[in-house]
This record gives sequence, C-alpha cells and structure tokens, in this order.
Amino acid sequence: MDEHPLSPNLGGASGGGDFPSINYLEWYEPRLQQGVTHDLSQSGLQYPWDWESLVEGKMLDGYSDLISKIEFDPRTFVADREQVDYSQVVGGHGVSQCLLFALLAVMNDNKPRKVAVEVPSYAPVSQFARALGCEVIPFTRGPANSSDCGPWKICRSELEEIIDNVCAVVTTPLQNPTGWMMDADDQQWLANICRKAGIGLVSDEVYLDSTKGTEYYRPMHRFGPHCVSVNSLTKCYGLGNLRVGWIIGTKEIAVNAFRAMHNLQGSLAMPSLHLAKLAWPHLDTPLEYIKQRRAENLPLLQEVLSNNGIEWSPPPTGIFGCFPLPEGIDSQWFVEEICSKYDLLVIPGLMFSPELSNLVRVAWGSELSQFSAAMEAFNHCLQELK
Ligand SMILES: Cc1ncc(COP(=O)(O)O)c(C=O)c1O
Repeated sequence: MDEHPLSPNLGGASGGGDFPSINYLEWYEPRLQQGVTHDLSQSGLQYPWDWESLVEGKMLDGYSDLISKIEFDPRTFVADREQVDYSQVVGGHGVSQCLLFALLAVMNDNKPRKVAVEVPSYAPVSQFARALGCEVIPFTRGPANSSDCGPWKICRSELEEIIDNVCAVVTTPLQNPTGWMMDADDQQWLANICRKAGIGLVSDEVYLDSTKGTEYYRPMHRFGPHCVSVNSLTKCYGLGNLRVGWIIGTKEIAVNAFRAMHNLQGSLAMPSLHLAKLAWPHLDTPLEYIKQRRAENLPLLQEVLSNNGIEWSPPPTGIFGCFPLPEGIDSQWFVEEICSKYDLLVIPGLMFSPELSNLVRVAWGSELSQFSAAMEAFNHCLQELK
C-alpha cells in the first residue's frame, strides 16, 4: 500500500526518536481549533448534556476521593446496561486506552508480536499496536469498486495468508468511515478464523450502540471466549471529553485487562467517573437523538447529493457515512481548496487509507438548523466541481 501524508502509518514496533505520527490528527486538530462554521466532520453525536441540572447546582461530593472511597465502580454500571457479569468488565479512558488493555489481555504470547489490523480504519486503531511493540499487518475490508459506499466485505484471502503469523486481530465492526455494520457472515467468519488460529480478536465498538434495538447490534464479545468488545461514552453519547470507556470479555480476559490497566494507568480519573455516574441513567436519550437526527437531517443530505449527481445509499443506522466525489477529484484538495472557501469541514477518505482518495465522510449528528445551513454551503462546494 502506498504511503500518504494523511493516512495511517503502518509498520513495525515503534519507540524513541522515530515515533510514528497520527497524520490524521495533526491535520485535523488545528482545523478544529481554528473553528469552523459548518462542521460536518464530527462522527460523534452533538448532544447538549445539561450538567447544571444533572449536578443539581451542587459541587460533586467526593470527586477527589482516594481509591479506597470510590463509591462508583463503572463496572457495575456497564455490566447492568450490557447484561453481562460484573467480572467480565474493565474500565479505561476511552476506547483509545481500552484498546491497549484489550490487546495486551488477549494476544497469544506464543505467537510472533504481529497484529493483523483491518484497514481502512481510524489511524489510532490502525497504529496503536506498534506502540506496544507489535508489527501491524493490514488486511482489507474495503470498497468493491469506486462507487461502493458500504457495507464493505472482508478480503478473506488477505487475512488467511497472515493469520498463522499474528498474535491477535483488531477490527472495527461498525466501520469508520462507511458507518455500516460488518455483514453477519463476515463477523462470524472473523470470529471463527481467530478461534481456529488460537488468537484473540479485539473489536472497537465505539459506534455500535447506535444500532441498539436493531438486527445490527452484535457485540463481538458474544462470538466466543477469544473475543473482546471495547466501547466508550464518546461517540453515541456525545461524552468524548469524559474519556470513559470499557472492555467486555470473559472473566479471564477481564482479569488480564484489569492487570494491564494497573500496569499502564493505575487508577481511573475520579471526576470523569462521577460525571459518568450522573449521565448514566439518561444514556438512552442521546440514542433517541441519533434516530431523530437521521430522520431530520439525512433527507437534506440525500437531496444535495442527488442534485449533484452523486448516487448514495446511507448506512441503516448511525450519524455518518461516506461517498465518492465526482471521478478524478481528490478529497484532500476538495476539503482544503473548495470547502474552506465556505468555512465547511468534511473528512477526506485519505485519513483512513491512501486508497480512499476520492471519498469524503460526512456526519449528520448536529442539530437541524445548523445542519441545514451546512447543507446549503455543501451544495455550493459540490456545484464548484461541475
Ligand atoms: C473507530 C474509532 N475508535 C475510537 C475512537 C476514539 O474513541 P475514544 O474517544 O473512546 O477513545 C474514534 C474516534 O474518532 C474512532 O473513530
């Protein structure tokens, strides 16, 4: 695969002077910090949590308590909501950190320190194993042709070729950037091939809760004792700043993951846990908002696309998806040269893979009046390509 200055940096174990950058974040964060009028880049729900009323005007009691006085154990809350046993859950700071604990917990230590990683994917997910001393080897779940917006299928032969030479596999079943859940037969196949090879399967499910209540809600921890699900409050609940995440696996995996947490983190941030406790009884409300934003915003996006000759079927759940620009248009050029004129930001597909230079990812998780103003601007951007 060709390298690209926006795409994930795959390769061998890293450490020291040549530590690999997350190109995507180095490009994206300054743009967000600058502020943008029409932000279609946020893959998480824009949900206004009302902290004033949640804290009832009181300073949080005990937010600086020592570990011995913890009155909120995130494991009980997650276990209750996900209907698993308390002993199967471990907390961490967001999916980002929980992925480390999960991989360390499930990797087969009799195998080479190589990890098979599904691409295209969000760069930290494609790369993090390098920082744990592993080589990452990609296998593809990508478009079948230039107009394929999902669901994308796993290239089974690619994974079959490397499976005996890796200690674990990392996947993102509800895929970023397509927004589509992995097909059920691919999910079962993936679980099976990992089980047969005797290796762990780490599943980033940061977007999965947008499928709750549908046939697409299939957390990977249900697919066997070698599978571990990783999730957080970041995307579907609009609480990324809390950095509250968790792992669900077998009791044995959870013991390992908890020890990984002790080794790498010690204990979790109490203020975040206290705020999560207050938000927890209300978590179904943002999930309802996701449905509402789909109902209100998606038709506007579809209209703009079809007026500009772009054929697209949105994913059946969630608040983002991706589609190709007219043939020959480079997504980074489009964002930097055209969208910037209208103070609008979308995500170039290049951020997930050098192969996706013609795709953009657009999110519809913002409130209706904001989104319809953004659609007007987006229409102008697409008109400029004619
Ligand atoms: C696939 C994927 N996983 C994880 C994250 C980050 O999750 P968290 O904030 O829980 O660390 C993102 C953020 O964009 C993502 O796209």
